[in-house]
Amino acid sequence: MMYKNLLAAIGNTPLVKIDLGTPAQLYAKLEYLNPSGSVKDRPAIYLIEQAEKNGQLKPGGTIIDASSGNQGIATAMIGAAKGYKVIITVSEKISIEKLQTLKAYGAEVVMCPGTNLIEDPNSYHSQAVSIHKKTPNSCMPNQYFNVENAKAMYLSLGKEIWEQTNGTVTHFFAGAGTGGTVSGGGLYIKEKNPNAKVFAIDTINSWYNTKGNPKPYKIEGIGIDFESPVLNHSILDKILPISDEQGFSMCKKLAVKHGVLAGPSSGAVAYAAAEYSKNLSKDDVVVMIFGDSGRAYLSKNLYANSETKYINDDIKIKREKIEKGLV
Ligand SMILES: Cc1ncc(COP(=O)(O)O)c(C=O)c1O
Repeated sequence: MMYKNLLAAIGNTPLVKIDLGTPAQLYAKLEYLNPSGSVKDRPAIYLIEQAEKNGQLKPGGTIIDASSGNQGIATAMIGAAKGYKVIITVSEKISIEKLQTLKAYGAEVVMCPGTNLIEDPNSYHSQAVSIHKKTPNSCMPNQYFNVENAKAMYLSLGKEIWEQTNGTVTHFFAGAGTGGTVSGGGLYIKEKNPNAKVFAIDTINSWYNTKGNPKPYKIEGIGIDFESPVLNHSILDKILPISDEQGFSMCKKLAVKHGVLAGPSSGAVAYAAAEYSKNLSKDDVVVMIFGDSGRAYLSKNLYANSETKYINDDIKIKREKIEKGLV
């Protein structure tokens, strides 16, 4: 495939069968193969191009948004490709790889505390709103409160899944952070097949699952932590809460047993889908969203870590120096 530019290469990611020992057929949508490495390229390009069309974003302007990392990375990539300045507010729990990726694209990063509630004035969302107010010629796509976020997923992700499965998809599993992926993708699939089932994957410690008493959790990108206008409850069949341990154990298994190096939210989605699909039949076609790659989390030591063998002590000593930045 040839594309007229980098941004035209967003989407059309592969749908790959993975056997997790269930009677149903499980397919992973490898969203980490998007140009900036996650599912978030889709809403980011849609929201930015809408802002350009409606005059909120003008040449020389600044794009500001809050992000658990991936929406910010997608925005930073698009800003670089289109020539806008980008400021991203993040929470302190962001992986070092995601932080460095934001900076590699030239974005300015503002680090905020990992608050339990998005309304907290120090939360990364509140801070993005206040920076936006203070910055002339800036626009804020506002992924957490802009329902167009789900529309982007409806128009690209949902349609793609329907077409790639030739309309055979029966079950759709996606992580919910803002809720855009599951709501937009799920709505498209349900409009085409009202019998299809749609599942949002949450974390056990989220605001939603703890009924307003959230606790910290490690999985990045998912967790329903506020009354999100983007999350369309009317099309959800179930919200499935997953623990960090369940998500991480599936990540390891996907990498070592299937050769799929996916991020923790993908592990949570695959765990939930595999459990649920034990009771499905061989005619069921289950689509799981793998939102990003495990390469963005290697420093968090979630994955199997086989030991390096050195051919001699000299090379061992030299390598240790390299790792400490001494050579
Ligand atoms: C890796 C990953 N998976 C899933 C999600 C959840 O997507 P959404 O915000 O559309 O609910 C995100 C959101 O940032 C993410 O980064």
